[in-house]
Order: sequence, then C-alpha cells, then structure tokens
Amino acid sequence: MSIKRIGVLTSGGDAPGMNACVRAVVRTAMYHNVECYGIRRGYNGLITGDVIKLDEKSVAHTINRGGTILYTARSKEFMTEEGQRKAVSTCKFLGLDGIIAIGGDGTFRGARALSKHGVNVVCIPATIDNDICCTNYSIGFDTAANTAIECIDKLRDTMQSHERCSVVEVMGRNAGYLAMYVGLAVGATAVLVPEESIDFERDVIEKIRRARFNGFTHYMIVVAEGAGSAADIAAKIKEAIDLDPRVTVLGHIQRGGSPTGRDRVNATKMGYLAVELLLEGRTNRIVCTNEGSFTDVEIDTGLSMERSIQNMEVNVLTAMTGN
Ligand code: F6P
Repeated sequence: MSIKRIGVLTSGGDAPGMNACVRAVVRTAMYHNVECYGIRRGYNGLITGDVIKLDEKSVAHTINRGGTILYTARSKEFMTEEGQRKAVSTCKFLGLDGIIAIGGDGTFRGARALSKHGVNVVCIPATIDNDICCTNYSIGFDTAANTAIECIDKLRDTMQSHERCSVVEVMGRNAGYLAMYVGLAVGATAVLVPEESIDFERDVIEKIRRARFNGFTHYMIVVAEGAGSAADIAAKIKEAIDLDPRVTVLGHIQRGGSPTGRDRVNATKMGYLAVELLLEGRTNRIVCTNEGSFTDVEIDTGLSMERSIQNMEVNVLTAMTGN
C-alpha cells in the first residue's frame, strides 16, 4: 500500500524531546511528499477528529521546546472497544494511511489496538521513566535526569552548610531507572527503587551510619516515587537516628524544560526511522535503540519483554555507598 498521508500523536505523560520527534516525523514525511496531520490530545484527538495539518513551518523552532505542541492525554474512552472503533473511523474519514504514536507503554497498547483494527502504526518510546523494556533508551530520560541532578546539586549545597540529611523523591511510579541513574550521578548516600526489596535498616540507616563514620556530615537519600514517599522515609529516618531530614519532591519539574542534545538527536533519529518504517510497509512496530544502533520490534513482542535495573548499577551503587 502506498503511504500518502499519515498522522502523528503524543500520548501519556509528556517527555522533553517529544517536539523534536514530532518535528522529525513531519520533516521526514514532507521529504517523501507524504502529508502529515498532528492528532491533538493523544488518542482523544483520534476519537473526536481533533487534528491539524502540519508542514515544515508548523514545526519550526520546536526542536528545543519541552512539552508537546500536540498536547497529550491518557484517554479513558480509547480503552473501550467503542472508542477504538470511533478512532478507526476517524483514520478512515481523514484518509490516514498510518499513525505514529509517541509515548510510553500505555501509548503502545493503544497503538496495538489500532493495529488489530487494521490501522498501520509505528510507535516511538518517549517517557522520562525509561521503563520500556524493548529499548534501552526512551526520549525524555536524559533531560529529566539532568534536571533532577541539577536540583539535587543545589540541595546538596544547603544540606552541606547545615549538616543535614535530605530525602529527595524523583519520578518513577513503577520503575527506578531515573532514581538509580540520578542517585549514581549525585553520589547519593542511598537510593531506593521499586525493583529492589528494601531493608530499611540495611539500605538506609546503615548507609547513613557508615557515611557518618567516614566523616560525612550531610546525607542525600534518593527515592523513586514507586519505592515509597520521601515524607514517610524522612519520618522513619528521624525515628531511627538523630537526624531531622528535609524532604524534597521534585515532581513534574522533571518532565519540563528544553531537551538535552542527547534527547533531541535520539528523538530526531527515531522520528525519521518511524516514517521510513511506515513507507517500507513495516507496521505494528516499535522503534528501539541501544543508542549505538537502532532497530524495531513488533508491538506485541516489545510489550511482552522484561528487564529490570541492571545488576551492574546495583553493584556499583553498593560499592559507592559502602555496604
Ligand atoms: O510519565 C511518567 C510519569 O512521569 C511517572 O514517573 C509518574 O508517576 C507519572 O507520569 C505522573 O503522571 P501524571 O502526569 O498523571 O501526574
């Protein structure tokens, strides 16, 4: 089937670099004389027909912008058979020969549903959680990590002056990749992630005691949102040891900001590859990367893959934090 017109959408939690990716999709489509429509507010836009025509100009000066110019949503209606049928008729009505869906695994499940209804889809991983198992890297992770690192470096200054303990909560509802990466980068005293079982005495209190024994007078505890709340952890520390920790929840600040070079370039390559896949007739795919090379897998296969925090990261952290 020849591809003449495609749609692109962003769905789920936004991630810095989504705009760079939309831009790459549009520019690659234009390069191949394929028309491109932006579908707004994720799958909701496919249900209601909320679309805009995009061209080179409409994506100008977006490569450096955080957020998503297409808006995003988590569509409840699209989870229903009825919602999906409406979305498929919008695709037919608009004559869309393919859809490129940018987001996390929820977005991919949506794309898989469309594919089962006969729509050509290609997915691109974008989530600051970096928890999509078929790819080592998701758009937005690098920017979010650097934002968190910058914030924690600032916190460290004041924690050091006051000889305090800081408990910082970073995003990651079900995944600790962001927390682990950030924890390693800031030289945290302890990092708590949902993937690892937590022995509070061993994993937090002992580490603080050891740091103190080694002459440290301030302590940085990094916790992934999914491993517990920073407030609860601070309260438990206060109960166990003579410290009065300060709590910082970095929250959505991690999802904003101008994307890093790494995110922009990966987003651009992935957007380009997604269009090329559609044009080659290879649909129902997820674009993946280990950053050295790029590949693609079938959506079902990608969604069924599993991975967890790498042993290496856990081992390095253990060596860095001393027990
Ligand atoms: O996009 C992923 C994520 O940022 C998670 O880390 C976080 O738990 C969740 O989204 C927050 O979602 P919301 O935008 O609904 O607050």
